[in-house]
Amino acid sequence: MIKLRFELGVASAATQIEGGELDHTWNDWYRRGHIKDGSNPARANDHYHLWEEDFALMRDMGLKHYRLGVEWARIEPREGEFDEKELMRYRQMLLRLAEYGIRPLVTLHHFTNPMWFENLGGFERMENAPLFLRFVEKTVAYFGDACNEYVTINEPNVYAAGGYYGMGFPPGKNSFGAVNQVMSVLAACHCLAYEAIHRLRRQAGFTDTKVGFAHHARAFAPQNPHNPWHRLAARLNAYLFQETVLRAFCLGEYRWPLRNLMKLPRRELVDFHGLNYYSRSSVCGLADGVAKDGPKNDLGWEIYPQGMILCAQEMEMLLPRPLYITENGTCDNRDAFRCRYLYDHLKALSESGLPVQRYYHWCFCDNFEWLEGESARFGLVHVDYDTQKRTVKNSGRFYGEMAKSGVITQEMVRQYVAEENYHD
Ligand code: BGC
Repeated sequence: MIKLRFELGVASAATQIEGGELDHTWNDWYRRGHIKDGSNPARANDHYHLWEEDFALMRDMGLKHYRLGVEWARIEPREGEFDEKELMRYRQMLLRLAEYGIRPLVTLHHFTNPMWFENLGGFERMENAPLFLRFVEKTVAYFGDACNEYVTINEPNVYAAGGYYGMGFPPGKNSFGAVNQVMSVLAACHCLAYEAIHRLRRQAGFTDTKVGFAHHARAFAPQNPHNPWHRLAARLNAYLFQETVLRAFCLGEYRWPLRNLMKLPRRELVDFHGLNYYSRSSVCGLADGVAKDGPKNDLGWEIYPQGMILCAQEMEMLLPRPLYITENGTCDNRDAFRCRYLYDHLKALSESGLPVQRYYHWCFCDNFEWLEGESARFGLVHVDYDTQKRTVKNSGRFYGEMAKSGVITQEMVRQYVAEENYHD
């Protein structure tokens, strides 16, 4: 029997589940024909209307934590105009979660900007930071006692590389200078938000505030470990893609090519480590790659549980903090190996000796997977997008049993894991 030394929950992002023809970057992107399967986030899971059922299902599955996003374009549809009705709605959602014994962790920014913000230059311009900060302050003040834990920014490196290094996210730019400018601006925004959230909640008499960010990290391996160039490439990718950003966000320490644009003083800027881990990259130059051998998911990403431990150890070495796995999951369209994936990752975590407190599986329901659209299924719960019917998958039943009991028994392994295999 394996005893899980942490609690289980699920994660999601507003744009990927809520639906609605809002005026934001990903709706603009789909209207311009960039989604591979022609689907769109305006449909998604219609969670905007179905959240009550979704939360009831989470409760029934025994989940203890839920990392959810708020949609900036919904809260502030026009610059400086805040929609109290929508803020109230999110607050109601948070209160419902509390009623169900599910602890919310709110993500304030997860890849999507309102178009008015994007049209001002988005996070490429340091001058725009106060606009983000105003939204953060308004939202956190409004939520008050309903939420004490925040992720400021989701995966700054993926947002920046995705949109500014030719990886197909909006705004579709491709420049080394821009990607580092955006990461530098985001780091400043995180620092300002970290301080503002603490200040605001302290002034309101709350002493239990926790703020962090969700760091996307991969294990980088040289394609050929005997080739010094490949080894150098692995180091360089890790440095440029995830180490500099981690230092800036956790410590306010900026190393080339990032820049301390606001001359902010060095200080510790996370109350927990949030790690989003999916895969290992096998590299021979400054680009992503996948090892030839080894198990893969349906998007061709290598499945490599030990990589999660390596990434978490690096974060702990930089700054010791409680660890939340803020995302981990896999694209398995037929739910054919997700139980094995869960087992392998949870076992590795449990045996790691790391100070893990929570594990948020990505994702609760199948949802709008950015450029892949509806065709890539990551959920514990199946979604029929035409009818919006939810059906708990086999892996969802396994996850629920683990969430309720806090253990993985031999019987569960026999029932859910033993007959599942990864494909190459
Ligand atoms: C993102 C999620 C995304 C997941 C799977 C993460 O990079 O935060 O929004 O759905 O990976 O691709």
